[in-house]
Amino acid sequence: MTIWHPTDDGHADLSSHDSFTAGAPHNTFARLRREDPLAWCDFPGAKGFWSVTRHADILALNREVEMLSSAHGIRLEDQTEEEVIARRTFQETDPPEHSRTRLLVAKAFSKPMVALFEEQIRALCREILDRALAQPEFCAVKQIARQLPMRMLGRILGTPDEDLDWLVARGDALIANTDAEFTTHVLDKADTEAYRLMPFRSPAGAELYDYAQRLMADKRARGDTSGVLHLITQPDMAGNVISDTEFRNFFCLLVAAGNDTTRYSIAAALHAFAHQDGLLAQLQGVPTAAPLWDTAADEFIRWASPAMYFRRTAMRDFELHGKTVRRGDKVAFWFVSGNRDETAFDQPMRVNLQRSPNRHLAFGQGGPHVCLGMWLARLEVRVLLQEFAARVRRVEPAGAHEFLRSNFVGGIKRLPLRFTLQ
Ligand code: HEM
Repeated sequence: MTIWHPTDDGHADLSSHDSFTAGAPHNTFARLRREDPLAWCDFPGAKGFWSVTRHADILALNREVEMLSSAHGIRLEDQTEEEVIARRTFQETDPPEHSRTRLLVAKAFSKPMVALFEEQIRALCREILDRALAQPEFCAVKQIARQLPMRMLGRILGTPDEDLDWLVARGDALIANTDAEFTTHVLDKADTEAYRLMPFRSPAGAELYDYAQRLMADKRARGDTSGVLHLITQPDMAGNVISDTEFRNFFCLLVAAGNDTTRYSIAAALHAFAHQDGLLAQLQGVPTAAPLWDTAADEFIRWASPAMYFRRTAMRDFELHGKTVRRGDKVAFWFVSGNRDETAFDQPMRVNLQRSPNRHLAFGQGGPHVCLGMWLARLEVRVLLQEFAARVRRVEPAGAHEFLRSNFVGGIKRLPLRFTLQ
């Protein structure tokens, strides 16, 4: 039994968030990979964009940083230069500037540094699961998947525990700015002009700006030089220091990026346990040092592909698949499609916990912007799965699940499940 069948007619409008409310339109992606791998997509009310859907093309183009720039916006929406500059983090810069800033925090997010968090993560997982599983039935996103990344984020940012719910709700309002459940200002429906210089054009961006400012002032007053927020304010190799605006944007980036994507990877795994026979059983009784845990975590992240696309802008004309991309055109790398590419993965619509090698693109592999938090995300997913499998024997659906309304971040936002303990 496969977990879930896409229901789109193969011609979904990729510019519309409504095309993603039943999950990613995988029939459309499959058709595009087959028939039109560099597809022009109209975007009502904005400039259209090119969609790159094949695994090999995404991997190759993601390396072409001089030809395809991140410095003019990384979402599909059009932005003025003023908006781009106001909302910029190092994610919206190109090498060598990008590399210099990223280097300031790269070590803190490296595999060996992140590994030091393992016992903390395990303790958090135990606490979260023991509390949640005291009930036989509940929303697994709310009680489990949302909890772990949120609490880890608090550790990384050095924020008080009592602020975490507020922070994560603001992070949701940024990332899920197209879903009315998470924001009062739905991007494609409300007038967001007043917030055009804020992250994600969101009023939550303004609140997070204030919070970041206060947090940093407080850290400085205490002479606290620990953590990534301090590192990012240090001079880079060329002696440049990021501006206050860039600092606040970096804070917002971590609040948003460090949360939802890991949450939706965990949610996808729990959903898969309830729908693909025998999946959870494969993990039961497996020693925590076994390689299966690493391959399983990566496979669930491939399966979830929560960061569905990132965009670039063409810096010169180029040809691909008989078409010409013009300078200034927007080009979307649909990682979610590359991760279901039949030419790169055997049976991509199945979860295969042993999949190895697993050359998925969920973290934007191949380019300089490859996810900064990937080792942390992998570790969180792996440890959560280990603690979950040690406690739960069986998972069943306890109601209908619901997906986020977004063509940018894909995920299950509501997941009622019933659990039978060991
Ligand atoms: C399963 C979880 C995650 C997924 C699927 C994911 C996905 C991605 C992807 C696809 C990119 C590349 C963006 C591009 O090409 O422009 C990226 C970049 C980034 N991610 Fe993640 N992410 C995850 C977790 C995290 C976490 C936990 C953090 C931080 C705590 C984080 C922080 C970042 C940052 C700062 C960047 C920008 C890197 C750069 O531009 O150099 N991510 N992520």
